[in-house]
Amino acid sequence: MLRISVLVSGGGTNLQAVIDAVSRGALPDAEIGLVISSRPDAYALERAKQAKIPTAVIAPANYESPSGMSRDMLDALGAAETDLIVLAGYMKVLPPEIIRAYPQRIINIHPSLIPKHCGRGYYGIRVHESVLAAGDAESGATVHYVDEGVDTGEIIVQERVPVLPGDTAGALAARVLEVEHRIVVQAIHTIIENKKKKQEDDEAAMIATIAFMNIM
Ligand code: GRF
Repeated sequence: MLRISVLVSGGGTNLQAVIDAVSRGALPDAEIGLVISSRPDAYALERAKQAKIPTAVIAPANYESPSGMSRDMLDALGAAETDLIVLAGYMKVLPPEIIRAYPQRIINIHPSLIPKHCGRGYYGIRVHESVLAAGDAESGATVHYVDEGVDTGEIIVQERVPVLPGDTAGALAARVLEVEHRIVVQAIHTIIENKKKKQEDDEAAMIATIAFMNIM
């Protein structure tokens, strides 16, 4: 079983996509154990409650130092026995202590084709404004692992969408968001498959070692 904690700040449509995927059986070996919001008024919290998922609010503004926030977040993630952290519309940069505690176990959804239109300052509608200002013919969404840089970790899935004549940033954002909902589920599916494959390979290697020792 892969235990997922989802971090949110806003409406939670990506969270909803993962909740729906789990409940329709598209992610058979996964469950969402916790939703953490950086804002007490995020609608994502309501979605979690409706799905009977435990929630926590960990708002940076409530802490005097980032280390206090990291400690509470690590406690909450640990208590939920988190295997994978999904940043789903999480609008804060994660403190390095969290990233170091979960290497290659945190994923983020970014609304562009990384390495284009990403990095510090590229979030929300600004990403789509940047795509339109550059005159790009296409955009898309990326799910990637989170490392200590901003939007620099290994890419897991990417999908393209066209930029259409007369597009506004809002219209492009809506088209990209549909893709985000699909690829976040696809990325979690890939992670589950990779984990299974690794377990099988480890078991096969162990059996081979035992067989070899019996021959000797
Ligand atoms: C999307 O634009 C996503 O790329 C950004 O937050 C928006 C969606 O948030 N990171 P949500 O999942 O509906 O809360």
